[in-house]
Amino acid sequence: MSQTSTPLDQKKFAEAQASELGNWQSGAADPAHVQHELDEHSEIERPLREVFGNETFGRGLEVGIGPYSLGFLAVHFADRVGRIDGLDPLPRLDVRVADAALQERVDEARRRVNYIQSQAEAIPAETASYDIVSCINVVDHAQDPGLILKEIERVLKPGGLFVFGVSTLSQVGERLWHYRRWKTPSEWLFVAHPHTFQWNAADALLRTVPGETIWHDRPGLFQRLAGHGRMSFWIRRKENA
Ligand SMILES: C[S@@+](CC[C@H](N)C(=O)[O-])C[C@H]1O[C@@H](n2cnc3c(N)ncnc32)[C@H](O)[C@@H]1O
Repeated sequence: MSQTSTPLDQKKFAEAQASELGNWQSGAADPAHVQHELDEHSEIERPLREVFGNETFGRGLEVGIGPYSLGFLAVHFADRVGRIDGLDPLPRLDVRVADAALQERVDEARRRVNYIQSQAEAIPAETASYDIVSCINVVDHAQDPGLILKEIERVLKPGGLFVFGVSTLSQVGERLWHYRRWKTPSEWLFVAHPHTFQWNAADALLRTVPGETIWHDRPGLFQRLAGHGRMSFWIRRKENA
């Protein structure tokens, strides 16, 4: 396991979450911010539809959905998922924008989600509850990334699908990040992202839980060494019992 996924103490996690909440609160009436939240992560929709054809999923869980209660499943994959729970430790916020059409899109997506305020290190759900779980742009903000992956594996049904996304940095990029964090530790970016991952470390962390990776978008060698900082995705299937 990468050192970068070492669990945080309660104080550091509380600081990260306070910083996270401030960012969401400041954008909740800003149409550009809200539009960005709706558009984000659409790049994983096409591979998901290609890999799974017309497969549909009864119950879905979005881990770390964000306090706007939008996430990936309810916005980009709602036609395939029967019922969506959205989990996040932060309280659900009101989202109010002046643009009526945008507001309607937001409300429509939010109506699809049953919001649950909780950390994902202890998901309040029975073992084998969900047919699909997504967790995108969350574990580098979380208290214990490894425990979250174990919990996701627990609540997935055998054969269930896991869509995972995390920001990954190149070797050089991660060193630069740590240097900049050392120089300005109180900068929002560094407080809100207590963990960092190179692609190989994120992949290794995923492999600590059972399951098979059926699709990923691993960056090329040069990019892994020096040339990338981006959201990387994996699609995994839990083993059938
Ligand atoms: C950058 S936001 C991403 C939100 C959403 N997944 C998206 O991509 O738009 C990170 C989210 O992870 C949530 N988060 C942080 N720690 C968590 C934890 N331990 N369990 C579940 N969610 C967590 C934060 O509260 C925040 O809403």
